[in-house]
Amino acid sequence: MFVGIDDISFYASDFYLSLATLAQHNGKDPNKYLQGLGQHQMGVLPCDEDIVTMAANAAYPLVANKGTDKIRTLLFATESGVDQSKAAGLYVHRLLNLHQNMRIIELKQACYSATAALQMACALVEKNPQHEVLVIASDVARYGLNTPGEATQGCGAVAMRITAQPRLLSMDAACGCYSEEIMDFWRPNYMDTALVDGKFSAQAYLKALKYSWNDYQQTGGRPFASLARFCYHLPFGKMGEKAHRKLALINKFSLTEEEISDTLLSSLLYNRYIGNSYAASLYICLLSLLENDESDLSGKPVGLFSYGSGCVGEFFSMEVQPGYQAFSRKQQHFDMLEKRTEIDYQRYTELFNLQWSTCGKEMILPKQTKGRYRLGAIRNHQRIYEPVSEIKTTSKVNMNTQTDNCY
Ligand code: HMG
Repeated sequence: MFVGIDDISFYASDFYLSLATLAQHNGKDPNKYLQGLGQHQMGVLPCDEDIVTMAANAAYPLVANKGTDKIRTLLFATESGVDQSKAAGLYVHRLLNLHQNMRIIELKQACYSATAALQMACALVEKNPQHEVLVIASDVARYGLNTPGEATQGCGAVAMRITAQPRLLSMDAACGCYSEEIMDFWRPNYMDTALVDGKFSAQAYLKALKYSWNDYQQTGGRPFASLARFCYHLPFGKMGEKAHRKLALINKFSLTEEEISDTLLSSLLYNRYIGNSYAASLYICLLSLLENDESDLSGKPVGLFSYGSGCVGEFFSMEVQPGYQAFSRKQQHFDMLEKRTEIDYQRYTELFNLQWSTCGKEMILPKQTKGRYRLGAIRNHQRIYEPVSEIKTTSKVNMNTQTDNCY
């Protein structure tokens, strides 16, 4: 029996900042970001979007099309959690009106956790092929204004429906893992931006790739030359290219720059415009491949490398199912990216510095998103989410004044 991804969809925040604008304000050559990092824009959250609303927006097309009765588990992967106890998936459960007889949990290990969720989902479906699992990854990458990491920020969410006899991709049995306790990137509970040793993190990524690949080979993985395409965790596009060069060299292939960029081109597209979406990044890369590659990938194997700082790596492979093109949402995804609003540097810093209510005092959020779901308010320390269609009043309250007298 095959299990794997039956349906997949992603959501990008409504706002974005051009990296040329950022370069101008940071006194950098724009080509450092555009060519050096391979990034053109980064997603920025409007004040009324967060990981929950992005997740619900990403998952909506999956449940609207096929109903929800078979979904018995929701696995929510994130490192930008909104609560220390409650799983963000519970908010999504209510917003999407999912079945009550199901389990919901949140998973964390930096950018890696969506891969753990996918593997667990496949195992659950193998145990009971009648059941389906909804895997959602949703994250916001935040570093700090004028830090080297700033240009590698971004956000986004991806949702996948995991079933038996999947229509898009079946999971191979072989997978290779590598874990090591290191401090390349981390975010203490009291901070809302990540700390990172940038150069070390890139080396750690490549080291984890090497050892995950070796383990994948030892567990019966496919040879390098037989994999038709590759998808990598993408903190920025150039990292994927560095990874592919390294993997080719490990396998004694010396690829030209052109060969590397041709192999990865279709998979890098979406991430180039949304930036790092942490746990969602690898699967948005996969979606970009499926929707934008010019070849027919039917029956072809794809190699995937997942990396989460700290660190855990996993190399695994999936096989593209014949007829997968019939289920593409390429047009919707292009329309969504096209309809986003470009913001200027000042608006970006206002949103970046937004003071959230931490004292229980009500904070009503003005409507900014064009998405289907939004964060309407924070009241008594509770986040109040609502479908945009149900908004009764439009608040004119200045959100920056809401936390006055909190302390
Ligand atoms: P930096 O020090 O500002 O950049 O930080 P740089 O000086 O190394 O330049 C970057 C590239 O641009 C270089 O290319 C330059 O040569 C080139 P490379 O040598 O790497 O091939 N460059 C130019 N190219 C064209 N025209 C120019 C120009 N100037 C320079 N004028 C760094 C870069 C990535 C370190 C920084 O942005 C950072 O710290 N980012 C955050 C950490 C990160 O993304 N790490 C990646 C691996 S770890 C990971 O993926 C996990 C993560 O997603 C978190 C998680 O797991 O949760 C981050």
